[in-house]
Amino acid sequence: MPVIAPHTPDEWAAYYRLRYEVLRQPWGQPAGSEHADDDAAPTTTHALLLSPEGHAMAVGRLHPASPTQGQVRFMAVAPHQQGQGLGRQVLTYLEAAASTQGLEEVVLHSRQNAVPFYQRLGYAVVAPSHILFGTIPHFLMRKSLA
Ligand SMILES: CC(C)(COP(=O)(O)OP(=O)(O)OC[C@H]1O[C@@H](n2cnc3c(N)ncnc32)[C@H](O)[C@@H]1OP(=O)(O)O)[C@@H](O)C(=O)NCCC(=O)NCCS
Repeated sequence: MPVIAPHTPDEWAAYYRLRYEVLRQPWGQPAGSEHADDDAAPTTTHALLLSPEGHAMAVGRLHPASPTQGQVRFMAVAPHQQGQGLGRQVLTYLEAAASTQGLEEVVLHSRQNAVPFYQRLGYAVVAPSHILFGTIPHFLMRKSLA
């Protein structure tokens, strides 16, 4: 299945369900906390990989952080489907979107557990950043698209 931009109500529901289940629910965060204020901005790019049954297998999003810089957020792959190249597919889609938009580099704040994934995809750690939910260290990472 190709990566798509969610469009129908069912696709949006699947998109947010996976975001919640992977990135919020395990830390006891309330329903709704998986939404971001700028999700609906026309400049935000959403990526969704659906199973043939219509379940979200992987998601991610990109927004312009500056005129030259894109930022990736909310990368998540369903637990039983991690390690099969789906995260790579979503990130590659978002990087292609960034290039199409004329952005020159991508930055992100990676959870500690995901740093090796982003390094494998060409990102370098810039510096430690915030601690999420009091327990998850993050690292600012960047990749030039040139
Ligand atoms: C991090 C995450 C998005 C990666 O997606 P994924 O589908 O599991 O990763 P992929 O299978 O596409 O991996 C791509 C490459 O990175 C490598 N990789 C992935 N995770 C890795 C890890 N923890 N350590 C070392 N290498 C790793 C893979 O081996 C693969 O390399 P290869 O091409 O040589 O085989 C996914 O595991 C996930 O959702 N984790 C939980 C939520 C999370 O932490 N999200 C990120 C928030 S910043």
